[in-house]
Amino acid sequence: MKIVVLTGAGVSAESGLGTFRDTDGLWTKYDLNDVATPEGFARDPALVHDFYNARRANCLESLPNAAHTALAALERSASHSLTLITQNIDDLHERAGSTEVIHMHGALMQALCVACDARWGAPIRMRPDDRCPTCGTRATRPDVVWFGEVPYQMDRIGEAVQASDLFVAIGTSAEVYPAAGLVELAGGETLELNLEPSARANAFGARQFGRATEIVPAWVAKITG
Ligand code: APR
Repeated sequence: MKIVVLTGAGVSAESGLGTFRDTDGLWTKYDLNDVATPEGFARDPALVHDFYNARRANCLESLPNAAHTALAALERSASHSLTLITQNIDDLHERAGSTEVIHMHGALMQALCVACDARWGAPIRMRPDDRCPTCGTRATRPDVVWFGEVPYQMDRIGEAVQASDLFVAIGTSAEVYPAAGLVELAGGETLELNLEPSARANAFGARQFGRATEIVPAWVAKITG
């Protein structure tokens, strides 16, 4: 069976990484316009680097949880082909053993040069006057897709979702597009696994609610027999 999984911050919540829109979520503590837009970065690059430096340090201190591990096991299953898409910029899927992860909103552990488009492993702390290791220009930024920018690999993502037999959204509020609209493209069955109904819950053929570390391993065990 061709399975496409889309994860959101809820899959990393039990690893201690914050979500965005829950009661104590990141967007209750920071104005996203200041730290997650190109305009905010142009206005105050040091503030934006500090925001991602703190998230990078938090991520390095956290561990993958049972939901990440179950999805890595699903990738290894012989009876299904898995395309794993994540809105998350953390590297917990990879550290749990997933080898093919499409980071549609970029990756916290990667840096980007605006001048020459080079990408490299981000240092723990990035600063505005860092030089690009390739071209030497002081034009580096986190390789993260900000609001108003185009998510990565959307053609590949759309094709995979359309061709899927099963599209599963895990731990996402379905408040941000284009990720929230992918369920409309699904060519087969659809399933939402979340703590509570998302904004698009009614667009899914099936829904299961609970904590990701409980319902995701149970779902993977069920479909891999
Ligand atoms: N298990 C399962 N689901 C959970 C858990 C948990 N332990 N904890 C929280 N959730 C669910 C919440 O119910 C919510 O629906 O995870 C979802 C988190 O929603 P958001 O905080 O909005 O995160 P996400 O959907 O990933 O945000 C999408 O918005 O800010 C941008 O780029 C950012 O990628 C992010 C995008």
